[in-house]
Amino acid sequence: MVERGRQRLDKVLAHMGFGTRQEVKKLIREKRVEVNGELAKDPGLHVLPGRDHIEVDGEPVEYRQYIYLMLNKPQGVLSATEDRFAPVVVDLLPPEYRAFHPFPVGRLDKDAEGLLLLTNDGKLAHKLLSPKKRVPKTYFAVVSGIVTDEDVEAFRQGVILDDGYRTMPGELKILRSGPESEVELTIYEGKYHQVKRMFEAVGKKVTYLKRIAMGPLMLDKPLKPGDYRELTEDEIKSLQELNPAR
Ligand code: URA
Repeated sequence: MVERGRQRLDKVLAHMGFGTRQEVKKLIREKRVEVNGELAKDPGLHVLPGRDHIEVDGEPVEYRQYIYLMLNKPQGVLSATEDRFAPVVVDLLPPEYRAFHPFPVGRLDKDAEGLLLLTNDGKLAHKLLSPKKRVPKTYFAVVSGIVTDEDVEAFRQGVILDDGYRTMPGELKILRSGPESEVELTIYEGKYHQVKRMFEAVGKKVTYLKRIAMGPLMLDKPLKPGDYRELTEDEIKSLQELNPAR
């Protein structure tokens, strides 16, 4: 019987980004893989990730189950893992990250950009997306039309969307008011096209939208559209420790 947690060596190495199962088998045939100091000969050898010491080309393989990436999603890319017609966010990642099968936590519209968390940690994703958690999301938007203090008040009360739904209170900050206004809006839910529809509800149109924060995560200023980085241990912890809303 296979001890709990043990997995095939070729599967572990493929998961860690060393290629497809076939490519990993080739590495093993080429005598480039060692397990606990011994040359590995059998791709089906059962190893305990994190306990057995695995080396490829003399370099220790650091095993991990989850990855957490902050991406600055560019415009024109879908928040999805695959699509027949349009480029998707995981296409922006190198194979060593794609090997973990990350997916976007929530969605940004195709024409929106900014902070998108990519992970393969389903439990954390579920928690962040749960309406009960009311995770705040902050957006910078350029809005066609003069945004007024009345709009700030309307958003604070909640506005009625085109389908009759009344939104939860949102915090609207006017950065610049004019024919092309600039604002920051924090909302605690994630209805379809919510920011755009909230502005439509007050007779205005969002012409540019960028998410700049999600819960405790802030989009890094130097991260250009299309760039990504791994979250730090502290950032991961702050997401895991998010408390349920009152
Ligand atoms: N609200 C929108 O309208 N679009 C997004 O992508 C996110 C929030």
